[in-house]
Amino acid sequence: MQEKTRAVAVRGLEGLLAGETRVGHVDGANGKLYYAGYDIHDLAKHCCYEECVFLLWNDRLPTREELGGFRSQLVREMTLPQPLIQWFKRVPRGVHPMVMLRSAVSDLALYDEETEDNSEAANRRKAIRLVAGVSAVIAGFHRIHNKKPLLEPNLKRGIAFNFLRMFNGQDPTKEEEEAMELMYVLHAEHEFNASTFAARVTASTLADIYAAVTAAIGALKGPLHGGANQRVMEMLQGIASPDEVDAYIDGLFDRGQRIMGFGHREYKVEDPRARHLRRYSEKLCRKDPACSYYEISRRIEQKVKKTKGIYPNVDFYSATVQHALGIPVEYYTTIFAASRIAGWTAHIMEQHADNRLMRPRSLFVGKLGRKVVPLDRRRVPKPERKGRAR
Ligand code: CMC
Repeated sequence: MQEKTRAVAVRGLEGLLAGETRVGHVDGANGKLYYAGYDIHDLAKHCCYEECVFLLWNDRLPTREELGGFRSQLVREMTLPQPLIQWFKRVPRGVHPMVMLRSAVSDLALYDEETEDNSEAANRRKAIRLVAGVSAVIAGFHRIHNKKPLLEPNLKRGIAFNFLRMFNGQDPTKEEEEAMELMYVLHAEHEFNASTFAARVTASTLADIYAAVTAAIGALKGPLHGGANQRVMEMLQGIASPDEVDAYIDGLFDRGQRIMGFGHREYKVEDPRARHLRRYSEKLCRKDPACSYYEISRRIEQKVKKTKGIYPNVDFYSATVQHALGIPVEYYTTIFAASRIAGWTAHIMEQHADNRLMRPRSLFVGKLGRKVVPLDRRRVPKPERKGRAR
């Protein structure tokens, strides 16, 4: 007999409280996002990425002195182990950068003597190496794959500046640096989203921080999560002008397809991060008179809101911001990861500090009590006849 655990399983775990956290909070009904209790709008206005990382790990903002030390600690770690650089050269052409990143982060564990040490102090040191390392991996891989020399970080500047420098091979302008800083700040944390939850589940087995981050990167890649930003740009590239938007979107709806960069499990109003990215998308796209991506995006936003009543999420305008920063479309989701590594590591450390194995139940909906038919008498069953459509 089916054991009576629960009458229904919650599809997609919607609305379930799967644990406690001090790291981040989403108030979806009111379109609010908090990092350690601070409103994202306040942080986006006043804080750089390193301040957010410090906040997520320490539950408080750093002093000026602490920030200086923390930033240089991070930037000093933006270097790569030699074997990983050699491995980049052997990665086949056409491999998706998220596949490379997932493997590279797993690989970083090979060169870290503290991989097996889950103590709070070791986790903190590894988290520093990971926050710096993910950005360095993405930039380094991009350079090597394009047969360009690697650049050293500028120790006087932060991660956002150095990422663009090491990725593009030249220092960013002030405006580009600001846009990248904002990208890093806005993507840093989002409570129990799919990738963070994957990280926490993995950490709850007391697996190491690299294992948990590797799991998170795997989850982020999907188009329903971080992979959406790449799909947004591909959609924009398929629309020649703002006048084509309505017909294009109607076509997607008619075929029952999703509009990438729209909708959210939690936000029932606009995603608070979209406002900031929309502003930068406009600012950066308008600098190039030949670029109509911002205008096309605005028309899509109006059309989707009117037709379906759903709003852009973080991935929608991040696509055009990244385009304007010269980042190739297949790298977009890696940029999300370069920032979210802050939240992932904060959650992994929180999980390790007060752990209980995550092991939920499932509702079994198959047939119980089936008997094994001996191998020589087994037949492929005829497909069951489907009931008539009602
Ligand atoms: N395009 C068209 N219809 C949509 C969309 C969309 N993007 N999102 C939701 N809907 C509709 C859906 O068809 C359904 O309609 P109905 O009730 O008439 O069948 C209703 O809204 C509820 O959809 P759901 O699939 O039950 O909602 P969910 O909470 O499971 O899905 C989501 C959330 C993010 C997976 C979904 O909105 C989606 O697929 N969006 C597109 C992909 C995307 O942009 N992902 C990024 C998410 S935010 C940042 C991140 O995590 O990376």
